[in-house]
Amino acid sequence: MSPPSLHETIHSLLAPGKGILAADESLPTLGRRFETHGIPSTAESRRAYRELLFSAPQMGDSISGVILFDETIRQRNSSDVPFATALARDGMVPGIKVDKGVVGLTNFAGETITEGLDGLRDRLTEYRSFGARFAKWRAVIHIGPTLPTEHAIRCNTHSLALYAALCQETGLVPIVEPETVMDGAHSLARCAEVTQSVLETVFSALVSQRVRLEHVLLKVNMVISGTDCPRKDEVSEVSHATRQCLLRAVPAAVPGILFLSGGQSDELATLRLAAICALPNLPWTISFSFGRALQESVMNAWKGNPANIPAAQAKLLQHAAANGRATLHPSKAIPEPLRPESSNSPPTSLLPKEPIVRPAEGLRWELGGILAQAGNFGAIHSKSEAHRFQSELLRIHPPEEIERMRLYVREKLPPGSRVGGAATRELERDFRRAADQLHDERYRQAGFGDVVKGLLLWVETTEERADENRLLKTLEI
Ligand code: 13P
Repeated sequence: MSPPSLHETIHSLLAPGKGILAADESLPTLGRRFETHGIPSTAESRRAYRELLFSAPQMGDSISGVILFDETIRQRNSSDVPFATALARDGMVPGIKVDKGVVGLTNFAGETITEGLDGLRDRLTEYRSFGARFAKWRAVIHIGPTLPTEHAIRCNTHSLALYAALCQETGLVPIVEPETVMDGAHSLARCAEVTQSVLETVFSALVSQRVRLEHVLLKVNMVISGTDCPRKDEVSEVSHATRQCLLRAVPAAVPGILFLSGGQSDELATLRLAAICALPNLPWTISFSFGRALQESVMNAWKGNPANIPAAQAKLLQHAAANGRATLHPSKAIPEPLRPESSNSPPTSLLPKEPIVRPAEGLRWELGGILAQAGNFGAIHSKSEAHRFQSELLRIHPPEEIERMRLYVREKLPPGSRVGGAATRELERDFRRAADQLHDERYRQAGFGDVVKGLLLWVETTEERADENRLLKTLEI
């Protein structure tokens, strides 16, 4: 039987309601993630973890393909079947990460180049003999006051195009992944500008190197503000900005676009994916190829203990299914307010906005504003007290400042946060730290647990959060 064509592989990977599991963390990256959960990183613990992922029952219902790491494609499951063979038997397409990670770009401080081109043709042939049908290469672009440079973008996109051409020659579908990373204090508008410019250069390089766009999949970041940006994005801002950027820079000949999660929380990644998929007139199949957003809760549940495998697999299935649903029948899954008001005009909130304070001061300012009020207000135990707290804030602070506070709290307490849960404990810690920095005894004595509870009640009673919670329920996250 002849091996599947590139077209057939793409068709399988883009099956409706399914996405790709990125399980291709390198040894150092997986080692770091294991360490945060107290799991030792050995060839056997990594093998056991990957077996947990790949053998989750009914995974194939929402996962079309899995990206493996070099070590994993050489490993076997407990029944002595190579992982790639086992995945294919369960209806999932095995793929392989073929880049060798990033190193500093000489003479360009703060920028990186991805290694792995030397000997790539032979490695691709070997991976294909192991059963891989597609490959992935990740280029990393950093945003800073003077970054990225045109040189860094050109070097990285040139390598991506060389890799893609070699993949097509070998019969593997190339996933081309230029990731503009979230690190930094940049705005959503700046991320849009850089992502668009990177994508334009990627496609120009692919065309120059005669890569067939019909046989390429793009894996890319959503357009979002940097992790340290004081202004937090609304879901609809992300979806509209991402759509605009893709429409401007990605040729319609490309069959599919897969989003990476890039360090977003699993719930936000799913919500934003659903909102993007709900937008009209996109010429590509849109889906996900998440690593952290699918695996974070799995590792949390597993903790390296075999007794926790069923619970950990249940987490994987829950998140994979939710993301699958996010891509499917999106107009039914998305409640009214997340839909665009008008399909073609960008929302006014995307127009560049000057931050009210400089980013570095943002966190402290917001905490200061909340704490100042909480210090006067005392404990907040009920929804009506939360609303009074909100009214008090509104009486004292201008509405745009309240909005910044609300967005800050909303980001810190994502949908599904519970009193006493990890997110509320973390916010309480932030408050204590900020109170210490403010050098005012009043703030230090505030009842932070109550303040956080009040803020949680506050965000939970907003229309927007109610919409998000409804969507999460629809997606069964
Ligand atoms: P994240 O979803 O964790 O960003 O990982 C996806 C990936 O494959 C990065 O190369």
